[in-house]
Order: sequence, then structure tokens, then C-alpha cells
Amino acid sequence: MAKPCDVADYKELAKRRVPRMFYDYVDSGSWTESTYRRNESDFERILLRQRVAVDMTNRSTASTLVGQPVTMPVALAPTGLTGMQYADGEILAAQAAEAFGVPFTLSTMSICSIEDVAAHTTKPFWFQLYVMKDKEFAGRLIDRAKAAGCSALVLTLDLQILGQRHKDLRNGLSAPPKFNLHSAWQVATRPRWALKMLTTKRHSFGNIVGHATGVTDLSSLGAWTAEQFDPKLSWSDIEWIKHRWGGKLIIKGILDPEDAKLAVQAGADAIIVSNHGGRQLDGASSSIAMLSSIVAAVGDQIEVHMDGGVRSGQDVLKAVCLGAKGVYIGRAFLYGLGANGREGVADVLNINHRELDVTMALCGERLLGNLGLHNLQQPTLFG
Ligand code: GLV
Repeated sequence: MAKPCDVADYKELAKRRVPRMFYDYVDSGSWTESTYRRNESDFERILLRQRVAVDMTNRSTASTLVGQPVTMPVALAPTGLTGMQYADGEILAAQAAEAFGVPFTLSTMSICSIEDVAAHTTKPFWFQLYVMKDKEFAGRLIDRAKAAGCSALVLTLDLQILGQRHKDLRNGLSAPPKFNLHSAWQVATRPRWALKMLTTKRHSFGNIVGHATGVTDLSSLGAWTAEQFDPKLSWSDIEWIKHRWGGKLIIKGILDPEDAKLAVQAGADAIIVSNHGGRQLDGASSSIAMLSSIVAAVGDQIEVHMDGGVRSGQDVLKAVCLGAKGVYIGRAFLYGLGANGREGVADVLNINHRELDVTMALCGERLLGNLGLHNLQQPTLFG
């Protein structure tokens, strides 16, 4: 393929280079995948206002996220099994994010551990927390993130039980892959991926192995979450988490204005409007469709971020116009990673930045902070 021009090109490349079960893990939603599709297609419905003959020199996309300076208001989303897209994937993605000047968020379900990523980066990254039944283990994860110098804790509230993802079930997804004819074929047909994997020892959940007791089936995500994640998690838990962490707290998985208000009451510094990339409650609204009503409910009290369906700098711009202070990319950076490691992630960030910058100019704006509803053709499309 000629040099990739956009995230769709990287998706094509990743499909050719990453074994099927791990590519599918990324490119899937729960059940019918209607919310997964809607996250993307709702962005297309938002039209931009073209303005002309406006001085477009000296543009800047710089901003801040929970008080931290960023080159553009984008963060890498926490994504599970990132080190299965490409050997040492979390380390490489964190390094690309650091070089570009945006936050990298390490998932609890990462392959590289918190300490490992810290040892291979020079600036603070963010850590995403799932709360386990074993509160002491969750507490120790918080302590480890603190010791590693993480500068924000992203607490995910929308995955205490796992939404059913048909592709993962059919593929028998596990990390490391269970050895059978099916998986051996998938790996054998991706020799580049396999050779790289042979150069690393990081093949399973780095934050868990050797740290949690009584985990019996680590390789299957479904069995593992069912056994370990705390289905009783409630708003009252936020207090001890906030207290033990003591730093910036971002609550992820808010899709309703009422929950957004509860997150404000719980003392979060920011929320992420999210349906987990369409991987949890299938049939829910897209994140972008819910953004305006959530900004209206709490936007004057808290930073509102969003994720879900963001595949371009234009999508970032649309979310910012609708009131998002920060926008997360998950699949977009994973496709870059699967296709070409750290360079792929770096290129996806550059592509997104160029798209954001040029779109901003063509909308007649020079500064990110000046973007708003006035840049959209039908600002009330989603409420
Ligand atoms: C985990 O966070 C997943 O969505 O698979």
C-alpha cells in the first residue's frame, strides 16, 4: 500500500498484519454492533460551516486537559490487550504520545505493566482503573500508578460485567493465544507480528500476573471479568478511590446527564462521555449524540471529555465545537500500532493533527479555544 493517508488506510494495514483474533477484538462492538456503528455514523451527520477570507496564519490547536498542556485536545484511550496488537504495544504507544505531546492512558487490562511503561517513558502517563472485588488489589493498583508518577486516574464505570462480543467468542480470544489449529493458522499467516512477539516476554496481563491472588482464568477476558470485577461498584466507592489516589480523577463511561451530575457530586475533575466504543450496552446512543445534553447539564462545573467513533481530526473538531474539552482515540491509534508500531501511532497522531488544523482554518478559526457551536451548520442536531 502507498503511504497511509488516513486512519482508514491504517485500519486496512492492521487487518493484514495483526492476527485475526486480536484485530477482531478491536474492530468489534457488542451484540449487533449497532452502537459501535452509530458512534461513527453520527459524526457524519454533523456539518461544518465553511468561512472564507479570514486570516489563517498563526494557528494553534494547543489546549489543556485536567490542567495539563497538550499539543491538541486528544488523548490515547485506555484499550485492553494493546500489547497483542504489536509486541510491547503499550510502551510504543506511550512513547509516541509523549513525543507528540498528548496523554497516553494505560489500561488495567494492558499487557505491559504500569512499572514497565514508566521505565520506558520520561513524562507522566494516565492510568485507567477497573475496580475488582478484591478492593485491596484495586487499592494496590492505585498505589502503583501513584508510585509510577501517573498524572491522572481514569476510573471506568461502564464495564463491571462484559457486554457480549460475538467475534471474541467465536475466535476464542485469549492472551496469550491458546494454542490450537485455528490460532496457529492466524499467527502463522502474520509472520511479521509473530517474529516481533518472539522478541518480548510480555504476553499476558502485566498488571495482574504476579500481583493478584486467586485469579484462575486470566486468559479469557469474559471469564476473568466475571470472576474478578466488582458488580456491586457504586457511587459510594468513588470516595475511597478518590482519597487513596489523591490526584486528578477522570470518570469514564458516562452517557446520561443524570449520571454526569452524580459524577460531579462524587468530586471528579472530568468525565468521559462514552459507551465504551459500542462494546458494552448495544442499542445505546452514540457518544457524540449525548455530548450536548451532558455539556448543558454539567459543562460549567467539570471538564467534559468524550470518546467513541473518533477516526479523524475533523471528528475531534466536531466534538470540541459541541463542548468537549478533550477527545480520546482508541481504535484509531490501535490501527496505527498494529500496522507499524510506534511510527504508526506517531503517524496517526500527525494525521489527526493535520486534519484538525486544516479543518479549523477552513472553518475560519485560528485558535482551538475559539471553536464552538457557531462553526456547525445545524448546531442543534443532537439536542
Ligand atoms: C475492555 O475494556 C474492552 O472493552 O475489551
